[in-house]
Order: sequence, then C-alpha cells, then structure tokens
Amino acid sequence: MNQLFYYAGIKELIFPLFLILLIIAMAQCSNNNELKTGKEIYQAYCVNCHGVDGRLSTNAAIDLSRSRLPMDGRLEIIKNGRVTMMGFDGVISKDQIDSVARYTLELQK
Ligand code: HEC
Repeated sequence: MNQLFYYAGIKELIFPLFLILLIIAMAQCSNNNELKTGKEIYQAYCVNCHGVDGRLSTNAAIDLSRSRLPMDGRLEIIKNGRVTMMGFDGVISKDQIDSVARYTLELQK
C-alpha cells in the first residue's frame, strides 16, 4: 500500500516538474528579447570584458571610455567581432546591436 502511494507520487510529479522547467525555459527566452535598452544589453553581454564603465579591459578589450571610434565602426565590430571579441550578429538582434552601440558612445569620458 505504501509502495503504491509512493509510485503514484513520483508519476504525478513528473508532469508538473516538466511544466515548471518549460516555463523557466520560456521565461529565459523572453528575458533575452526583453533586453531593450542599450544599457541592459551592455550589462548582459559586454561587462565581462569591458566592465560597467567600459574600462575593465579583460582579454585586452579596448577601454570604451577612451575609444573615439565612430558609430559605423562600432556597429561593424559588435556585429562581426575582432580578435578576441566575438561577433554578436545572430546572438542579439540588429536593433539590439544598434542600441548597445549607441550606449557605448555614452561611456565616453
Ligand atoms: C570576450 C571579451 C569581449 C566581450 C564579451 C565584448 N568585447 Fe568588445 N572588445 C573586446 C576586445 C578584446 C576588443 C579589442 C579588439 C581589438 O584589439 O581589435 C574589443 C573592442 C570593442 C570595440 C572597439 C573599440 C575601438 O575603439 O576600436 C567596441 C565598440 C566594443 N568592443 C564593444 C563591445 C560591445 C558593445 C560588447 C557587447 C555587445 C562587447 N564589446 C563585448 C572584447 C570583448
């Protein structure tokens, strides 16, 4: 009797558990698309190397507070990458690349 109860318990747990995992996975995806502002995108994808203020320079990342690269050059590098910086084409949308490039201009000191 006890064993029967246990068995039913596990079986009934699997589906809700699967649903919860599915919801978490979906929330993760929609979070990604909800990164709208350049700042949010920057903080999600760029701070590891460039730091919050653009000056961290991990992996010899260029200090963005001192970069005077014009907008089109920024778009090009963010899209296609350069040396150890990976390209973000396909990782984030074109609009997101635009916003994050604009945000890097705000980091100039
Ligand atoms: C893996 C580390 C890494 C990540 C993550 C990274 N970068 Fe970079 N970034 C670099 C490196 C290294 C360079 C210098 C490349 C070179 O030497 O030509 C660079 C250069 C740049 C430049 C060019 C600056 C200049 O004056 O030439 C821009 C703009 C830039 N990154 C923006 C970004 C943005 C925006 C993100 C996030 C979407 C990002 N980076 C994510 C490592 C990174």
